[in-house]
Amino acid sequence: MKKNTAKRNETQMGELKIVGSYVSDHFGELWDKSLNDLIKETVLGVLKSVSKSSDFDPEEIEAVYIANMASGLFNNQLHLNAVVSQLFNHFPPSIRVEGACASGSLALIAAQDALNSGRFKTVLVLGVEKMTDLSSNEATKVLSSASDYNFEYGSTFPALYALLAKAHMHKYGTTRDQLSSVSVKNHRHALDNSKAHFKKLFTLEQVNKSAMVADPLRLLDCSPVSDGASAVILSTKKNSGKISYKNKPKIIGFGHAQDSLDLASRKSLTSLSATKNAAKIAFKQAGITPKDIKVAEVHDCFTIAEILAIEDLGFFKKGAGGQATLDGETTFGGKIVINPSGGLKACGHPVGATGVKQVAYLAELLEFGSEKSKNMIGKYALTHNVGGSGATVVVHILEK
Ligand code: COA
Repeated sequence: MKKNTAKRNETQMGELKIVGSYVSDHFGELWDKSLNDLIKETVLGVLKSVSKSSDFDPEEIEAVYIANMASGLFNNQLHLNAVVSQLFNHFPPSIRVEGACASGSLALIAAQDALNSGRFKTVLVLGVEKMTDLSSNEATKVLSSASDYNFEYGSTFPALYALLAKAHMHKYGTTRDQLSSVSVKNHRHALDNSKAHFKKLFTLEQVNKSAMVADPLRLLDCSPVSDGASAVILSTKKNSGKISYKNKPKIIGFGHAQDSLDLASRKSLTSLSATKNAAKIAFKQAGITPKDIKVAEVHDCFTIAEILAIEDLGFFKKGAGGQATLDGETTFGGKIVINPSGGLKACGHPVGATGVKQVAYLAELLEFGSEKSKNMIGKYALTHNVGGSGATVVVHILEK
């Protein structure tokens, strides 16, 4: 019998719900908190989010997946799976996942696979990074270890994304103001997010004139170096004790794709093929199209990265992302709300935490809404998490 391939593949996906979520209070330079403090705060926070009463038994957590990029270099602490497991009396099995800035969404995928296989029914996924214990220079060096050491030695991430920005400006006429409009919008969105690293408005002119980091990218084109953690609890159960999971957001599709690590081996510098491929898989699995998405958290580690993302995800035509942002099409009242949390640019980018935070933030938005989002947010939401300059990409689609 022929199958309708546009329909969601339920046997593969099952009913996978986000039953709890937490974002550490808050993202930023958290000098009074250690890496372990952040992990502990986030485990307690996400357990509390499942049930305000004591109905949820932590022993229901059958496994913990922890995402982190570089705690060995940032904090001299490896073996984070043990660090997180020992917070539970029952020491659940725990696995650490690393994939640079996409560590968070890769940990989610690892957890989803275990849930979909039936191995576990309820798991906790936590992402964490404590970056500001090092100086900016040292942190930049650690981050650059996520690029190709042999081919790109000495390149920083601002420099690699600057090459992508130059190529996009050259091919599509993307302008300085268009890049800046991403930053202005995301800083504005972050004003409504109590967990954001920055809560400050900037004008186009301020972004245009901020300090040069790697031409054409300036200080206010870049996501910051942040500390933070985030967690979700995923479950295939219908309820837990007296708690019903009936109205909890679902993960209905995800795609994971790879490209070459070094930019020189890529077919194109004006498009991330891994984003296109991951999106294609996720949309097919969810049985929807980009037109169905009204809100998305995308990987805006640099302003050009958001423009690439909204084009490659199919929200805007290739080359039209910059002008759409400048025209207000990616904020409340526009075609689609991109990065309502403030994105990596203004909410912050503790690298291992970001992919989990994107899902946690949108799950909360779908479940509880917000004053501004009332008439904007539809039934679906999308997250897009990138490792390095586009070698690893994961797209998740959530349903209310
Ligand atoms: N956006 C907005 N403001 C920022 C900022 C950013 N990205 N980074 C720093 N600031 C602010 C600081 O809060 C500080 O403000 P204050 O003077 O009011 O306190 C000021 O700018 C200087 O901060 P400092 O820490 O000295 O900045 P820096 O020059 O050392 O670092 C960058 C700035 C852009 C180089 C750094 O944020 C960076 O490397 N970002 C990219 C991180 C990255 O590559 N992530 C991986 C992506 S794939």
